[in-house]
Amino acid sequence: MIKKLASSVGEYKRPSALAALFVAIEVALEVAIPYLMSFIVDEGISKNNIRNVIIFGCVMIACAALSLFFGVLSARLAAKGSAGFAKNIRARVFGKVQDFSFYNVDKFSTGSLITRLTTDVNFVQFAYMLVIRVAVRAPLMLTVSIIMAFTLNAKLAVIFVAAIPILAIAMIILIKFGFPLFEKMFKKFDEMNSKVQENLIAIRVVKSFVRENHETEEFRKASAAVQRAQLKAEKVVVFGLPLFMFCIYACLLAILWFGGNLVISRTMTEGQLSSFIGYVQQILMSLMLIGMILINLVISKASIKRIVEVLDEAPDISDEHADPSLKVAEGSVEFKDVCFSYNKSDNYVLNDINFKINAGETVGIIGGTGSAKTSLVQLIPRLYDVQKGEILVGGKPVDKYTLRNLRDAVAVVLQKNVLFSGTIKENLKWGDENASDEEIAEACRIAQADAFIRSFPDGYDTYLGQGGVNVSGGQKQRLCIARALLKRPKIMILDDSTSAVDTATDAKIREGLRTKLKGMTVIIIAQRINTVKEADKIIVMNDGRIDAIGRHEELLATNTIYREVYESQQKGVE
Ligand SMILES: Nc1ncnc2c1ncn2[C@@H]1O[C@H](COP(=O)(O)OP(=O)(O)OP(=O)(O)O)[C@@H](O)[C@H]1O
Ligand SMILES: [Mg+2]
Repeated sequence: MIKKLASSVGEYKRPSALAALFVAIEVALEVAIPYLMSFIVDEGISKNNIRNVIIFGCVMIACAALSLFFGVLSARLAAKGSAGFAKNIRARVFGKVQDFSFYNVDKFSTGSLITRLTTDVNFVQFAYMLVIRVAVRAPLMLTVSIIMAFTLNAKLAVIFVAAIPILAIAMIILIKFGFPLFEKMFKKFDEMNSKVQENLIAIRVVKSFVRENHETEEFRKASAAVQRAQLKAEKVVVFGLPLFMFCIYACLLAILWFGGNLVISRTMTEGQLSSFIGYVQQILMSLMLIGMILINLVISKASIKRIVEVLDEAPDISDEHADPSLKVAEGSVEFKDVCFSYNKSDNYVLNDINFKINAGETVGIIGGTGSAKTSLVQLIPRLYDVQKGEILVGGKPVDKYTLRNLRDAVAVVLQKNVLFSGTIKENLKWGDENASDEEIAEACRIAQADAFIRSFPDGYDTYLGQGGVNVSGGQKQRLCIARALLKRPKIMILDDSTSAVDTATDAKIREGLRTKLKGMTVIIIAQRINTVKEADKIIVMNDGRIDAIGRHEELLATNTIYREVYESQQKGVE
């Protein structure tokens, strides 16, 4: 798990390694200080030799200054290394999420992915910094100090050796109980972030239903759950510090007591005792630091696990079986005995779907809400994979094409479509990065968007807010159609994409698609019969199955569902 993440250190290995090295130098200088102290006491103060006090004092100051210098240097490098490490992890996770299919994203939920990309990475960054600074410092200091203490007085040194196993047992218990609690805490973080995200995306709906208080209450609950989970986890951790302090002071007391007796009985000098106490402090200090690292490793272990989960998730739609050189030759689409469910169970949303669309045909899909029209067309560009059966595009199974080649040939204007912040032109260029102004304008003319774009003071350079908030619903739909047209796809799928456009404009868009883009297969999902009336074929969907396929007149004569929808829509007209 840790190995997997460690590869993200990448180009920050150098600052990280240097940080560790400088810490080592810092420690070496630091442990010299108590030693010098014993010289000052025994050779200077006890012998009333002021010269020795000054000499050893100066050396001590130099050691302290140098150790400070290396300390600061290593802290800076550690900050650089850990921030870079975190940057690399974020880039890797984000890149991975880009490869996810809808199924993968639904599985994690967007809120959880956001927590993993932010909060979890922060914890890992902090733990990494601790590891390169403290994890070098503490054990090193511990070993050197123990050696020094034993050299000074082995009998006295046994006292704190007794304290070490007590601390170790306490640490193990802490980790065992702490880890699951931190895992739980992060789950609550996920829930809170999901709440925030949902609320912010739908803030207009919240306001129009005057649900602010309800939403605030929901958020308060989610936030309080985080607080509770955090408190519970921290409760275990806070035990650590007082326990350490207790051990430290107990050891100090014991050493002062026994050491004092040794000095009185003249088996130890005052200087030796004072430097011994210095080492004991350093030993216990490093034990405390080790404890602190362990606690942070517990927290970050939960985070590392969550990040690695994302990195380990296999994108369920990939180019595994694809032939990179294969391009979609023509725009035919065929479904053979297709069954599909969103959760990969046999609780199918689509059942036994069979039909063939020839290249260049215009096909309408009609059906009640929830009859799986969207689910059906999403399978063509492989936004999801089928559980049973096969889908052929241009005569070849969809998974034989790379996703790029397939999706370049199949443009979908999704029912829930979005624009991105940026100018209109930038948004349209998603369809084709190198499109010329004239090509862009031509696509917009077909999509009936050119006129309203030009009516804006900034025309094609009009800036769109996040999600395209500053254009109307119908305008947004037409921009999305133009964006898809710029891909010059072989197959164009419009999922209810003109629902917010008036009927006259709707007719003009279809007219434009038919006359200007001959040869392109067009699949139109619509609620209005008028939108699909002239199609070469109309597929009537009912509850995840195809109820009938035919032309308008045929269906009117033979299909009950189609006739009922048609009649109910005609009433208003007459
Ligand atoms: N992402 C999803 N995860 C799980 N189930 C889904 C998902 N999207 C849709 N469904 C389910 O699949 C069924 C068909 O939905 P679909 O969106 O295909 O209907 P539709 O015919 O496009 O409806 P509408 O006319 O309202 O757009 C519904 O019962 C819905 O609950
Ligand atoms: Mg739909």
